[in-house]
Amino acid sequence: MTGKVLVAYGTTNGSTAEIAEAVAAVLRKEGFTAEALPAGDVARVTPYDAVVAGGGIYAGRWQKDARRFLRRHGKDLARRPLWLFSSGPLDASAGERDIPPVPGLKRAMDRLDARGHITFGGRLQEGAKGAIARMILKNGKGGDFRDFARIEEWAREVAEELAAEKV
Ligand SMILES: Cc1cc2nc3c(=O)[nH]c(=O)nc-3n(C[C@H](O)[C@H](O)[C@H](O)COP(=O)(O)O)c2cc1C
Repeated sequence: MTGKVLVAYGTTNGSTAEIAEAVAAVLRKEGFTAEALPAGDVARVTPYDAVVAGGGIYAGRWQKDARRFLRRHGKDLARRPLWLFSSGPLDASAGERDIPPVPGLKRAMDRLDARGHITFGGRLQEGAKGAIARMILKNGKGGDFRDFARIEEWAREVAEELAAEKV
């Protein structure tokens, strides 16, 4: 059980990168060879046996590097076990109910036959890029709503499914 797993992430303000690192760390603990990489830095997914891809949500869309990753590597992703996650709401809702993928991501999931998707809470903190981000922060609506215990639990579920398939 030394399957190679890529955890690719599209991030604008860093919070999805930290989630991806946490997922990769759990996969390594479970015996896989996992690495977390920015989605835009991945030249090919063919060296990997399975892929987890994550993106922040911006104005109802998956972050652009994450979107491009699915488009660019679609053919090879469709042939590998694939899980997706989103990092989004700046409130506690992700811990209270399942938040479905944004519509564009749902279409990609169907096209690529992805095994699963989960939405984790997001984070927005001082220094985030963009005028809208600054406005949200000014209105006191920033914060860190990521639940790392839940993130690790999900990563263990992915590891279990991969192990069952002998990846
Ligand atoms: C301009 C802007 C738009 C956002 N739009 C959404 C949205 O439509 N839905 C959502 O759930 N979260 C939205 N968020 C929250 C982000 O998804 C959250 O901050 C996420 O963790 C960002 O990921 P990143 O730090 O990896 O870029 C928005 C944040 C900003 C700054």
